[in-house]
Amino acid sequence: MRLRLHTFADSARGARDLATHLGTAPPALVEVHRFPDGETLVRVAAPVARHAVLVRSLFDPNTKLIETVLAADALRRSGAHTVTLVAPYLPYMRQDAVFRAGEPISQRVIGSLLRRAFDRVLTVEPHLHRTRHLAETFGRGARALSAAPVLAEWLRRAEGDILIVGPDSESEPWVRAIGRAAHRPWVFGSKQRLADRSVRIHFPPLPATTRAVIVDDIASSGATLAVAARALRRAGIRTVDAIVVHAIFTPGALARIRAAGVRRIVSCDTVPHPTNRIATAPLLAAALAAR
Ligand code: R5P
Repeated sequence: MRLRLHTFADSARGARDLATHLGTAPPALVEVHRFPDGETLVRVAAPVARHAVLVRSLFDPNTKLIETVLAADALRRSGAHTVTLVAPYLPYMRQDAVFRAGEPISQRVIGSLLRRAFDRVLTVEPHLHRTRHLAETFGRGARALSAAPVLAEWLRRAEGDILIVGPDSESEPWVRAIGRAAHRPWVFGSKQRLADRSVRIHFPPLPATTRAVIVDDIASSGATLAVAARALRRAGIRTVDAIVVHAIFTPGALARIRAAGVRRIVSCDTVPHPTNRIATAPLLAAALAAR
């Protein structure tokens, strides 16, 4: 057996799509037992191939991270020579610096935990800003896949004149890549985060258009999309839609975004959510097959 996928129940759908694209057997489910004291025991299913691939999207991450590194150990003890983690969403990536005295660099802490457990980490759009390459924190075998091509494809097929809008200057190269590939104009704002659910966004003068699509890598509290949408509507843009890669959407986020006048919200399937419309399995399968 060349390669076998293993997954947890919360990532089973994405893992099945990936297996279909790879032409491998359906993924084996990792069993999870929770002890009364809150500890977890995982058990991986035999047979374990020489090259094991564990698929898990690490949204809502704290318990999942522990279960995921335990499963990596179980796969090795069951015969895997290499263990790859496919984490379509990688958590703790935004804390990539000490922003205020007394804080950790969470990205590096999680990076060293996962690089010790896995030979290779594969993810999609992992919010790389101050860290230029995923391998710097997640080890030599780590690879970050850009979602820009699949977002651009979606936008290319959408009807009408569309202005692509990035909510902050950090997203500029990404928004530019999407705009160029989609053959659409783009613009980006400058964002200041005031608190977990509060941001301020300023846009330069906007070109005349009736429709804008905000693109962002993550939607969490929904504050960024809501504030950006209000600013665009104030500037006279009648229809505002949004496309995000990672649909975290904490409780109340979707309502906040819709109340700000966003008509349609679409996401990639890196985090399972009712807004998922854009598949990432083809990207992940191509990267795994090219190893
Ligand atoms: C931050 O820089 C990211 O690109 C997203 O804009 C941010 O994580 C969205 O978070 P929220 O939905 O809470 O505003």
